[in-house]
Amino acid sequence: LHGSAEIKNGSLMIGGVSTGDLAAQYGTPLYVYDTKLVRERARGFKETFESLGVKAEVAYASKAFSCIGIFQLMDEEGLSLDVVSGGELFTAVKAGFPPGRIHFNGNNKSREELTMAIEHKIGCIVVDNFHELELVGELSRSLEEATRVLLRVTPGIEAHTHDYILTGQEDSKFGFDLENGQAEKAMKSAMDSETIELLGLHCHIGSQIFETTGFILAARKIIEKVALWRSHYSFEPKVINLGGGFGIRYTKEDDPIPPRQYVKEMIAAVKEEVEKYNLEMPEIWIEPGRSLVGDAGTSLYTLGSQKDVPGVRKYVAVDGGMSDNIRPALYKAKYEAILANKADRMCEDTVSVAGKCCESGDMLIWDLPLPLAEDGDILAVFCTGAYGYSMANNYNRIPRPAVVFVEDGEARLAVRRETYEDLITHDIRF
Ligand code: LLP
Repeated sequence: LHGSAEIKNGSLMIGGVSTGDLAAQYGTPLYVYDTKLVRERARGFKETFESLGVKAEVAYASKAFSCIGIFQLMDEEGLSLDVVSGGELFTAVKAGFPPGRIHFNGNNKSREELTMAIEHKIGCIVVDNFHELELVGELSRSLEEATRVLLRVTPGIEAHTHDYILTGQEDSKFGFDLENGQAEKAMKSAMDSETIELLGLHCHIGSQIFETTGFILAARKIIEKVALWRSHYSFEPKVINLGGGFGIRYTKEDDPIPPRQYVKEMIAAVKEEVEKYNLEMPEIWIEPGRSLVGDAGTSLYTLGSQKDVPGVRKYVAVDGGMSDNIRPALYKAKYEAILANKADRMCEDTVSVAGKCCESGDMLIWDLPLPLAEDGDILAVFCTGAYGYSMANNYNRIPRPAVVFVEDGEARLAVRRETYEDLITHDIRF
C-alpha cells in the first residue's frame, strides 16, 4: 500500500476516507488522489536540492496529470510547471499558476501557442528545433517581449527502463543534436538574437528510468560541451535542465531508487564536472511527472460480469478500462489491485480484469490474485496517478471518470464526471 492508504475493518482507506464511501458518493470508475503524498513527493525533491545548497527549479511535468486543482497544489508547494500544449498552458493560467514559473516544452509548438506563451511572459520556452528558434525570435520581436529560452539538446543517450544505451547516431524527433554541431549552431543563433535571452540547456532522456547512470552521463556530456563552447563563444549556461523520468514502483517487480537519490547523484556528477572545467555552478532544473503523482493515484472500479473459461482463466469485468487507463493496452503496463471492500480477505482466486470496451485488448490486469469476487465489489487499482486520467479518452463514448482529492479524512471533487450530454456537446446535428 502506498502513502496514506490503509485497511480498516476490511475496507481500503485513502487519506483517511473509506474507498467504499468514495465509490458510493462519486460513482465509479473514479480516480482518487492522496494529495498528502503528492505534497510529500514535491517537498522531497525541493528539500534535497536545498540540502545540497543547489539553486533549482522543480517543474511538475503536467502531462502526467493535469487539472486546475493539481496545478493549484503544485503552486502551493512552490513547484514550477512544465506544459507541452496550449491546452495545458491555458489550464495553468486558469488555475492562477504564476506564469514566471511555467516552462513550455514540445517539438511542434504552434504560432498561436508560442504567442500565448510570450504574451503571458512565461518563465521560459524550451526551444526544440531551428524552425521554432526562428519563430520565437520573430514573435518576440513583433510582440516586443524578451523571451527566456532553454535549448533542448539530445545528448545521445537513450534511457530504457532497466538499462541505457549510448547511441552514436541520434535518432529522435526531439531536440538539437549535441554531437553533430546542431546544438552549437542553435546556441550561436540564440546568442545573436536580440529578443532571446538564452538561459541554458535542457535534456530529457526518457521515462520510468530505474538507474542514475543515464542522467549522470547526460549531465557530463552537456557540461563537457558547455566547457568547450565557453572557450569559443564565452557562453555559460545559467540553467541546466535534466528533465524528468524518475521511475516508480508499479508492482513488486519494479525496483526504483528513492527520488532523492537521483537528485543527489546527478548533482554530485554536475559538481564534479563543473569543478573539472572551472565553470560557474548552474541552476539545476528537473521536470518530474510520474514520480510526483504516480503512486498517489488509485482507480476505483465496480465489478460486473464474469466469464469462466474452464481450465484456462476467469475474466472479471470492471465498469471502465482502456477509456480511463490506456497504459496496459498501449504499453503492456502492469498494475497491482485489491478488492477495496474485502481488503482483509485471503486471496483464494486468480482472475483477469477486463475493461468494458469492445476490444479484446482492453484488459487491465492479467492473473490477479483476489478474494472471491462478486458483482458490486470495488476493485482498487494502485499507482494510476500518472498518465492515467491524462490519457483517458471517450472510446466507445464512455464518459471520462471523476477525480477526487483526499487528505486528512476529507474528500474534494477535483474533476467532475463527464455526462452523456458532455459527450455530444461538440457534435453537430444535420
Ligand atoms: N520532460 C519531458 C520533456 C518529457 O517528455 C517528459 C515525459 C517528462 C519531463 C516527464 O517524465 P516523467 O517524470 O513523468 O517520466 N505516457 C507514457 C509516458 C510518456 C512520457 C513522456 N514524456 C506512460 O504512460 O508511461
